Amino acid sequence: MITSMDVPALLAALTLAEKASLCSGSGYWHTQGIERLGIPSVMVTDGPHGLRKQRDRHNQLGLRGSVPATCFPTASALGSSWDTGLLHRIGVALGEEARAEDVAVLLGPGINIKRSPLCGRNFEYLSEDPVLAGELAAALVQGIQSQGVGASLKHFAVNNQETDRLRVSAEVDERTLREIYLPAFERVVEKARPWTVMCSYNRINGTYASQDPWLLTGLLRDEWGHDGLVVSDWGAVDDRVAALAAGLDLEMPSTGGLSDAQIVAAVGAGELDEAVVDRAVTRLLGLLVRTLPGVESRDSYDPDAHHALARTAAQDCAVLLKNEDAILPLRPGGRLAVVGEFARTPRYQGAGSSKVVPTRLDTPLDALRSAAGDVGFAAGFGIDTTDADAELLQEALVLAREAETVLLFLGLPASTESEGFDREHLDLPGNQISLLREVAAVNPRTVVVLANGSAVVMAGWEVHARAVLECWLPGQAGGGAVADLLLGAANPSGRLAETIPLRLEDTPSYLNFPGEDGQVRYGEGLFVGYRFYDATRREVGFPFGHGLSYTTFGYSDLAVTVLGDGLAVEVTVANTGAVAGKEVVQVYVADPSCAVARPPRELKAFAKVSLEPGAAQRVSLRLTWRDLSYWSPRHGRWVLEGGLFDIAVGASSRDLRLTASLEVDAAPLAPPLTRTSTLAEWLAQPAAAALLRESGAGGGILDDAELLKVIGSLPMSRLAMFPGMGISTQDLDELVAGLSSR
Ligand code: BGC
Repeated sequence: MITSMDVPALLAALTLAEKASLCSGSGYWHTQGIERLGIPSVMVTDGPHGLRKQRDRHNQLGLRGSVPATCFPTASALGSSWDTGLLHRIGVALGEEARAEDVAVLLGPGINIKRSPLCGRNFEYLSEDPVLAGELAAALVQGIQSQGVGASLKHFAVNNQETDRLRVSAEVDERTLREIYLPAFERVVEKARPWTVMCSYNRINGTYASQDPWLLTGLLRDEWGHDGLVVSDWGAVDDRVAALAAGLDLEMPSTGGLSDAQIVAAVGAGELDEAVVDRAVTRLLGLLVRTLPGVESRDSYDPDAHHALARTAAQDCAVLLKNEDAILPLRPGGRLAVVGEFARTPRYQGAGSSKVVPTRLDTPLDALRSAAGDVGFAAGFGIDTTDADAELLQEALVLAREAETVLLFLGLPASTESEGFDREHLDLPGNQISLLREVAAVNPRTVVVLANGSAVVMAGWEVHARAVLECWLPGQAGGGAVADLLLGAANPSGRLAETIPLRLEDTPSYLNFPGEDGQVRYGEGLFVGYRFYDATRREVGFPFGHGLSYTTFGYSDLAVTVLGDGLAVEVTVANTGAVAGKEVVQVYVADPSCAVARPPRELKAFAKVSLEPGAAQRVSLRLTWRDLSYWSPRHGRWVLEGGLFDIAVGASSRDLRLTASLEVDAAPLAPPLTRTSTLAEWLAQPAAAALLRESGAGGGILDDAELLKVIGSLPMSRLAMFPGMGISTQDLDELVAGLSSR
C-alpha cells in the first residue's frame, strides 16, 4: 500500500510513454496505474445524487448493475431546498459511501444553468440562477471532499441541452457567459476547491470545451485558481493533443492506447512540448496524493442513517405551490383516497448516467397507509401511456366519491426526461390531466402530488387541484417524506429554483432551443429564467423563489450598511403562524438606471432559517461589490457603476417584502481610447480632450456644439482622413500612444 508520493521523483522516473498513458483512463472508471513505480489506479464514478459504482468490470458501459447506494433527491429537488447545510450533510453522506466502496472521485455535482425547461437533464441541475446553483454546489462539494473523496464539478461549461450535445456549438456573448453561465462554476472553484472539474461535450462559440485554452486554463486556473485536475466528460475529446495543450489533463474513458500514441507522436514531432505532458501528469499525481488516505480505507456507512437523511432532504426539497383554504396538512380521521400509479410505483430519480440502485425504496402508498391507516388506492392510469383507461378511471372515481380527500399522484414518465435527449413539451400526459378533471368533478377536495425532474406547465389543470405539492424526483425516501408533508408531520419549506412558466412559448429560449445546423444561439442573452419574465413583465405559473408553508412569516427592520468590501444586509424574520417552519430569505439587487441593460432584479444572497411559532431571528447576509456589478466586455472586467441601487428582501422574486435604496459612490470608468473611438468619446475624457486641443486637431469644430452633435459619432480614424481637420493619421497614432503612456 502506498502512503505517500514524491511527485517530482516519480515524474523524473516515468518514460514518455508511461506519462502519456497516465493522461487517459484505464477502462471506463479507473485512472491508469504504473505498477513498477507504485502509482495506483483509482476509481472515479457517478454521480451527483448517489453512487453508481458498476459491479461488473466487463459491463462497464451498462447503466444497470451498480452496487446499492442511497438514492438522494436529484438536483432539481436539492436546488429547491435552498439549504446549504442540507447539501453539506448530503455531500458528507455521499463521500462516506464513495469511500466505503473505494471510489476516489465522485462525478458530480452538475451545475449547468437551466436555460430551458426542455433540457432533458434538468433533473441533474440545480437552478436557473447562478448564485443559488453555485452556493448549493459549493456546500455539496465541501461535504463530499471532507470525507477524503474528490468531487467533479460538471459539465464545464455551457452544456444546457442534450440535443446534439457532443457537437453543438453554444453561441453565447461574453457578458452572458460571465454573468449567467460561468459564475456558478467560479463560485464553487473559489469556495470549495473541487479536486476535479469535468469539461463538457459541447463547443462554445465554435471551440470544443475540451480543447479551449481560455476556458480550461486562462479562466479556470489563471483567473479562478483551480488547482485540481481537469477531466473530460466521457468521450468529449475530439483532438487529444489540442486538448492536452489547452489544459485537459485526463481523458476518460480509455481509448485503448490510441490517444497515448498520439501524445507520444506529437512530442516526437516537436508539435507538443513534453512539459505540457508533465503538467498533466503532475496534476494527476496530485489528485492521487489527495486520495491516498481514502484509497485503501474499508470504512462502512450506516444505510439507515443515510435513508433517514434522504427522507429529511426530500421533506425540505418539496415545494407547496398552492394550498387553497389550507386544505393541507390533512386533518386526522378523514377517509383518504390515494389515486395514481406513482403512489405505488414512485418516480424518484432520473435516467442515464446518474441512475442509482437504491438501498431500499419507500412508496407514498405504503407510507400513507402506515401513518394514516385506512387508505384506499386506485391506480387511475398507466405510467407509460397517454391514453385514458376507462376501467382504471371508473375505479378511481368510485374511490374518490367515497373519500373525504383525494391525494392524486401525477408526474412525468421516466421515458420523457433523461440524459441523452431533450423533452418535446412541458405537459403532463393527457390521461393524467383527464383523470384529474374527472376526479375533481366528483370530489373537489383533490390534492395533486407531483413527481417530475423539470418544470411542467400547470396552467391548464391547476385550477382543479385545491393544493399542489411539487416533490420533483425525491429519492428513495421520498414516499415517507410525502406522507410526512401531507399529514403535517413535516412542514414544506422548498422554494422554486426555477420558474414554472404558463406556456412553453413564454420561455426565454423558446425561439432558440435547441438550435439548428450544429449551433444554438443564446439569443435571450442575460435574460434567463426570472430575469426574462421580470424584464418582459410576463405572467408566470409560479415565480422563482416561490413556495408556501403551513405557517406564515413576517419581515421587518431591513438595514443595509456599507462595509469596506461590500454591503451587510440585515432583516428580522418572524414566524407569525401557529406551527414551526422554515423560511428562505432572498436578497435581490436591482440597478434601475445603468449604462447597460440589466435584469430588473437578480438574486445575490439567501438564507434558510428555522423558526418556532412566535419566534423571530435577525438574519445577516453579505453582498460584495461584485454582486452589484456587471461584466463589461469593453473593459474586460466587472464594473460597478455609481448611482442608486435597490436592495430588496423577500419570500420570492415576486414577493418582495422590504426594499432599501442605496446610493453607491463609484468613479465612472472611462472606456479605453483607441484610434476608432469617436470624437465624442475623446472629448468626454478631460485628459484626452486636452491632448486633442493641444494638438490643434479639429480645425475649430471642437467648440462648435451644433456641429459636434453631427460629427461627434465619427471614429477619430475617419476624421483624421478628412481634409482640414488639423490632424493626420500619424498624429492620431501619436496621440493614442501619448495617452497610453500616461
Ligand atoms: C455524462 C457525465 C457522466 C459520465 C460518466 C457522461 O455521458 O455526461 O455526466 O459523469 O458520462 O458516466
